[in-house]
Amino acid sequence: MIKPGSIIRNVGITATGMSVPDRVLTNQELETMVDTTDEWIRTRTGVIERHVATPGTPASELAKPAVLRALDQRGMKPEELELIIVTTITPDMFFPATACVLQEKIGAKNAWGYDLSAACSGFLNGLVTGYQAVASGTVDNAAIVGVDVLTSVTDWTNRDHCVLFGDGCGTFLLEPIPDDRQGIIDAVLHVDGSGGQYLYMLGGGSLNPPSHDTVDAGMHFLHQEGRQVFKVAAAYMAQATTEVLEKNGYTIDDVTLLVPHQANLRIIEAVAKRLKIPREKVLINIDRYGNTTSATIPIGVHEAAAEGRIKRGDLIVLTAFGGGYTWGAILIKWGCSPHFSPVG
Ligand code: COA
Repeated sequence: MIKPGSIIRNVGITATGMSVPDRVLTNQELETMVDTTDEWIRTRTGVIERHVATPGTPASELAKPAVLRALDQRGMKPEELELIIVTTITPDMFFPATACVLQEKIGAKNAWGYDLSAACSGFLNGLVTGYQAVASGTVDNAAIVGVDVLTSVTDWTNRDHCVLFGDGCGTFLLEPIPDDRQGIIDAVLHVDGSGGQYLYMLGGGSLNPPSHDTVDAGMHFLHQEGRQVFKVAAAYMAQATTEVLEKNGYTIDDVTLLVPHQANLRIIEAVAKRLKIPREKVLINIDRYGNTTSATIPIGVHEAAAEGRIKRGDLIVLTAFGGGYTWGAILIKWGCSPHFSPVG
């Protein structure tokens, strides 16, 4: 487990990767599928298009290119990978874990791993547990893989839900870094189980094992009370962001980029307004991807780094809210160069 003589090490993000399915589903196409309009979707959610997987595409298949890209950027062979944490609510299957399927698919034959489920906050939870494994010396590197094929649990006849989601994967490679002023600085994570009644998938588990009845009742689809979720999502993400900043002696003015979970443009704007952070310092890509659940944050960071929006030494905050309820924020001093060369 923890190697003898280990001390807590600084942990940086030394590479990132992402992948989305090729197929793009536009609002105009959705107009032909359910009673909706491009105008409603744009103004109420901010989504213009989303990438959707061919039915039957497993999460591991989306994750594979994202992880291989990150390893390639770092110049690391799959066999060198030590830990894979997959955060998802749409795993390939209940078991084996998608982390095991992915380990085999990418040839990471020396890695161990597991799946972690915290809905749209999954990636933040994965990042914290991955950080702990690397910081403690349990492993020397970890791939945190946020992946969801939410379209596989979407009811395509329900206009309330089917316009919101897309599929995708984003990944961070974590490694120890020598500079104690950079990397993952701190995190706050929260759960409020009383929120579970507003965002859930009832069927398929031990509570409601799959049967003809559960399928007939549509219990294998995601269900949400949109207005209830909307009310708390912005407040909780703003609170968590303030909490992690204050804990570490920073203010919102010190932040170069806020990367919020992409559930609804109006929620993102409400977070920005509560925090009094200008829109140009807030990452927004929901227009192109919709809500990709566990993948929104790593995809956002990957794109921001690739576009040079974040540079070495910049302070960034990742914040998410999701089913559970689960929410939190992570503070990072960016250490990667725009070309993803290793830190230190
Ligand atoms: N096209 C057209 N009309 C639609 C529609 C669609 N796709 N979906 C809902 N409507 C209608 C509703 O039926 C309702 O009609 P009514 O007034 O005649 O009853 C009207 O639009 C308003 O519905 P409402 O649910 O109040 O809309 P909203 O402004 O709350 O937006 C969501 C709905 C789902 C977009 C919004 O509540 C939301 O984003 N919630 C948070 C979801 C979320 O974050 N989920 C994941 C958490 S990580």
